[in-house]
Amino acid sequence: DTRDPTSLRTPIVAVLGHVDHGKTSLLDKIRGSAVIEGEAGAITQHIGATAVPLDIISTIAGDLVDPDDFDLPGLLFIDTPGHHSFTTLRSRGGALADIAILVVDVNDGFQPQTLEALDILKRSETPFIVAANKIDTVPGWNPNEDSPINDTYESQSERVRQRLDESLYEIIGNLSDEGFSADLYWRVQNFQRNVGVVPVSAMTGEGVPDLLTVMMGLSQRYMKEEMEIDVAGPGVGTVLEVKEEKGFGTTIDTVLYDGTIRSDDQLVVGGQNEPIVTEVRALLQPRPLAEIRTESRFEKVDEVSAASGIKVAAPELADAMAGAPVRVVRNRDLEEVVAEVQAELADIAVDTAEEGVVVKADTLGSLEAMADALGDAEVPIVRAEVGDVAPRDVSVASTADDGKQKAILGFNVDVLDDADDRAEIEDVTIFTDEVIYQLIEEYEEYVEGIEK
Ligand code: GTP
Ligand code: MG
Repeated sequence: DTRDPTSLRTPIVAVLGHVDHGKTSLLDKIRGSAVIEGEAGAITQHIGATAVPLDIISTIAGDLVDPDDFDLPGLLFIDTPGHHSFTTLRSRGGALADIAILVVDVNDGFQPQTLEALDILKRSETPFIVAANKIDTVPGWNPNEDSPINDTYESQSERVRQRLDESLYEIIGNLSDEGFSADLYWRVQNFQRNVGVVPVSAMTGEGVPDLLTVMMGLSQRYMKEEMEIDVAGPGVGTVLEVKEEKGFGTTIDTVLYDGTIRSDDQLVVGGQNEPIVTEVRALLQPRPLAEIRTESRFEKVDEVSAASGIKVAAPELADAMAGAPVRVVRNRDLEEVVAEVQAELADIAVDTAEEGVVVKADTLGSLEAMADALGDAEVPIVRAEVGDVAPRDVSVASTADDGKQKAILGFNVDVLDDADDRAEIEDVTIFTDEVIYQLIEEYEEYVEGIEK
């Protein structure tokens, strides 16, 4: 390859959707199919992600994917639990995910987190498709394991087809209500302009070949330039989660979207107060399933290249924030890298006013999304931070002159006990929710109550 050391990285695919609509099951199905094909070893489990190479995708997709048509190495799927904000999936200047799958239960239809996911996909301009999941639960369904959708659809009774069509058109209608022009994927010519809906079952595998085919096509067609990276260059990534890990102290689960990270690299990580300069102590990957009973759940690796999910153990990480940038220094001026991280953090920083509400969120990305939504609702913010609601937040809120602003809005965070007690004494109202627009609605109702 003449392009070396630049090559195409694996596109990052976020799997999003309402709680229980089947995100994890869909990924399990894809992994399971590879196991059945005798290729279990080819699928690598990452921290928070699953990498599926192109040849496995083409085996699962059967006739639908010809590997010769593609030169991307495969897909890296990131599973996001429905109760957890996937707004963490950010990178410099936008969305961390190159493309997304929005999973919608055909019976349950659109739910609050479906709408929230759509809103964020819209804001971040992330191309996506909709997996209309659980088609096997349509009453009277005749399952055809792992079959492409067209074949299994043909084998259903008239009545069953009708029921499925109704559910699918409802989803298409809901998408249209949200401003997306959508259609069944085989009718979509231009996936940049229209959202393709793929009927699937994570249980039976029906439609999964179609789903993988569409995802490969989408990434190949629209993502290629962004996939050209210097694989050997210093790594760039985003913190997905900050976690205590027995034997390793504070670790950061990181998605690497550019370059390489090595076990002896110096890193700069976005922190609560300032960029953290530290050195990698260990790079950790989950052990293969077969070894799950060994003492540590992790194995140490020397190096990983983008795109991948990796747990990084390093000192000084206590102040690291989910959604913050991670940059490898290697052969560069440390000051320069610190400045890059600072600039990135400044980019995300929320504009605060002299007076307003206090906002707390679980990640930098969700804080940013909260600030956007509050801006739209014309609610000023006096303080915005990542973290649980603490007594000092109550102190800040209690100083507001305007009763409407004696409020704390917490997205996906806990309220510490002493904060709750303090809030009662100080007459500060704390709102928490796992859905941004619901949180804002609750606050607006409270404001209306005061104004009456
Ligand atoms: P969270 O991570 O909690 O947001 O949920 P999730 O979206 O990952 O859903 P999950 O995969 O855990 O599935 C939720 C439930 O739905 C489980 O009981 C699954 O077995 C079931 N389920 C998922 N997909 C299908 C499907 O295609 N058909 C049927 N019949 N059940 C399914
Ligand atoms: Mg799940």
